[in-house]
Amino acid sequence: MNNSSNNSNERKRVIVTSALPYANGEIHLGHVASTYLPADIMTRYLRLKGYEAYHVCASDDFGTPILIKAEQEGKSPEEYVKHWHDRDEQDFRAFGISFDIFHSTSSKENVEFVQRFFLSLYSKGYIYEREVVQYYCPYDKKFLPDRYVIGRCPYCNADNQYSDSCENCGRVPEQILEPKCAICKREPVKRASIHYFFRLSAFADRLKEWLNTNGNLQQDVKNYVLRWIEQGLQDWDITRDITWGVRIPIDGEGKVLYGWFDNHLCYISTALLLARMNGLVDDDNDNAREFWNSSIIYHFIGKDIVYHHYLFLPAMRLGDGNYKLPDYIPTRGHLMLQGQKISKSRNWYISLREFINAFNPDYLRFYLALITPYSQEDLNFDWDEFASRVNTELIDNIGNFINRALNLAKRYGVSTIPTQYDDGDRESINAIKHIAQDVGSLIERNEIDKGLRRIVAFASYFNQYFQNKEPWAKVKSQSKDDKASAHNCIYISVNAVASLAVLLEPYIPFSAERIWEQLKMQGSIHEQRWDDASRLMVREGHIVGDVKPLFKKISREEIEAQKSRLGKHIA
Ligand code: 2FM
Ligand code: ZN
Repeated sequence: MNNSSNNSNERKRVIVTSALPYANGEIHLGHVASTYLPADIMTRYLRLKGYEAYHVCASDDFGTPILIKAEQEGKSPEEYVKHWHDRDEQDFRAFGISFDIFHSTSSKENVEFVQRFFLSLYSKGYIYEREVVQYYCPYDKKFLPDRYVIGRCPYCNADNQYSDSCENCGRVPEQILEPKCAICKREPVKRASIHYFFRLSAFADRLKEWLNTNGNLQQDVKNYVLRWIEQGLQDWDITRDITWGVRIPIDGEGKVLYGWFDNHLCYISTALLLARMNGLVDDDNDNAREFWNSSIIYHFIGKDIVYHHYLFLPAMRLGDGNYKLPDYIPTRGHLMLQGQKISKSRNWYISLREFINAFNPDYLRFYLALITPYSQEDLNFDWDEFASRVNTELIDNIGNFINRALNLAKRYGVSTIPTQYDDGDRESINAIKHIAQDVGSLIERNEIDKGLRRIVAFASYFNQYFQNKEPWAKVKSQSKDDKASAHNCIYISVNAVASLAVLLEPYIPFSAERIWEQLKMQGSIHEQRWDDASRLMVREGHIVGDVKPLFKKISREEIEAQKSRLGKHIA
């Protein structure tokens, strides 16, 4: 990590956030690839590295689409979001995402924090009132946000389309024809009301300066955000005339704040709640601000929400002036599925739950981590490639080496004669000595995919070493030299297995724990030190535990069954 304060001896704190999922449906592979998995790998790595690292997330509960869905299901919005909040949390846990807290934007802590933040920006003149003309239903006595007005699309003439997007032709109608209230289907009228605007335009220079001086942000993203600033920033209407949202603290008229005003503030309010829960800060605000401001801050996102995280979020923090801006905003591209865009309505889609019911969650973590670069490039989930990379790189290469080395260690014990090391042994020990630093520096640069490839190369190297030395044959030989060579190879290989357990913990935590158990090493793999991956951790005389194959290969039939489900509607 590129942070000058790392030089101090103090244990450095890092707050990692993942973009908040809408409490409005299942988590699917697209969310996981760009955001939750890279953030989780980073946090797990930082913890092993000795940082005080927290992974903070919450469900994004507010907004018109959620209110409409709740109404359609005959539930209160509170009930509706609670269902998805709990469901998402379970799915994340089953996938090994190690949140320290998974809170919600509709929580008391967030709502109060957001209202205070609004008042702070308002008192400084960064929020102002302006009259806006909108549809109003005189029968329901409601202003109608876009999603509550339906009509005929002026481009393709399709009937029954929302006024903010036509599902038939995909365009955004400037002016919907024959508008109707979505609730009572009668004609609405136009009526003026007061809305609140955030003065984004006032921050152009300060945002430019921040973008130009923060050397941790991805250059290509910075370039297009700088272009947006050059083209001129528009002030931003932060009011919605619905009841489900954070109430505007100076308006009693049933207006709420737009979801994108409150959701990213939940990164801060949730981190502060966690700090209070862990007794790291008291309720006094200065102390809580200090908790945030003395941490390194990462916000992991997908590229569709760049505008919000590189402009709204920093501008709001600059306006309030109390909470530091992010140090890192790792931004990744979209996941395609078998070469096509993910689409729920076409059932071209795989939910996380469905996936982990069918396969070991570590298989998905392994494959996605390998194919997800640190860039805006879109990536592709391909069922055949998934099977072949898991079967060859994880199972044939990593799994096989671990299993062979542990089996011999179990059968013949762990002993060594260092005075009889040959060049191959010395080179292998050297490979162990470098691996923690090599992989660690790639992860710190956010090159998570390259870090995993480096681990795969380390395992192939050891497979070769093991294969060339033939310890399974030499250990039974009558020759003393052969026996010594076999024992040295077993000893060094078992140590490479222990290194692999530590190195793989961020990527495939469930399997790493099983490797650690089979090695019969002390404690849990999740509590080890990253740098120990470069030490010979297994001592002479160590007795390994029960050795079993770690993985089961993915069959052609399983893959064909998955492929045939795509695009079909399952009743
Ligand atoms: O685009 C989304 O899915 C949003 N729910 C992300 C919110 S991230 C935020 F809180 F900043
Ligand atoms: Zn109506």
